[in-house]
Amino acid sequence: MTDDPRRHLVLVGLMGAGKTTVGERCAQRLDRPFVDTDDLVQTLAGRPVAEVFATDGEAGFRALERHAVADACASPVPLVIACGGGAVLDPDSRRRLHTAGFVVWLRARPDVLAGRVDAEDLERPLLAGGSLPTLERLATTRAPVYETVADATVATDDRTPDEVATVVLEELARCAA
Ligand code: S3P
Repeated sequence: MTDDPRRHLVLVGLMGAGKTTVGERCAQRLDRPFVDTDDLVQTLAGRPVAEVFATDGEAGFRALERHAVADACASPVPLVIACGGGAVLDPDSRRRLHTAGFVVWLRARPDVLAGRVDAEDLERPLLAGGSLPTLERLATTRAPVYETVADATVATDDRTPDEVATVVLEELARCAA
C-alpha cells in the first residue's frame, strides 16, 4: 500500500491497442494486481458486457463503466488499470484517472488495430458495423480525448506486447524519478 495519490498505472486507447495484454504484463512485472474496467462492469452488472449493451444500450454500459472506473481509482492498493476504449469519454472518469494514476495512451494506426480485433467480438458491439471504418472514426474523434488525459503516449504499431510493456514501465519510472 502507498499514500501516493497517483498510485495506479492506467492504460487507455482504442480497442485492439493491447491494454489488457500489456496491462497484465506490466502488472506481473510490477507485482501489482491487474484490473480491466470491462471485467468490473461485468461484475457490477452480473451480466456480460454484450448483454449490458443489448438490454441497457451504450448509455447503460457507460453508467456502469463510470462506477467501475471510480471503484478502481479508489483502491488503496496500487493497481494496473486497463480502461475500456471509451471509458475516458466521461469527464469525471478522466479527472479521476488522471488524479489517481499515471495514464499511458497506447496508440496504434486504425489499420493495425483492425488487424488485431475480431469484428464479431460480442464484448465489442461498437465494431459490429465493420472494424476498420469504425476504428478510423473512433481514432479521429477520440485521439484528442486520449491526448488530454495521457501523461505519456506509447506507439504500439510495430512492437510486441512485451516490448510495449517495457516502454510503458520506462515511462512510469521516468515520471517517478
Ligand atoms: C469500447 C471498448 C471495449 C468495451 C466496449 C466499448 C469502446 O473495451 O469497453 O465494447 O467504446 O471503445 P476494449 O477497449 O477493452 O476493447
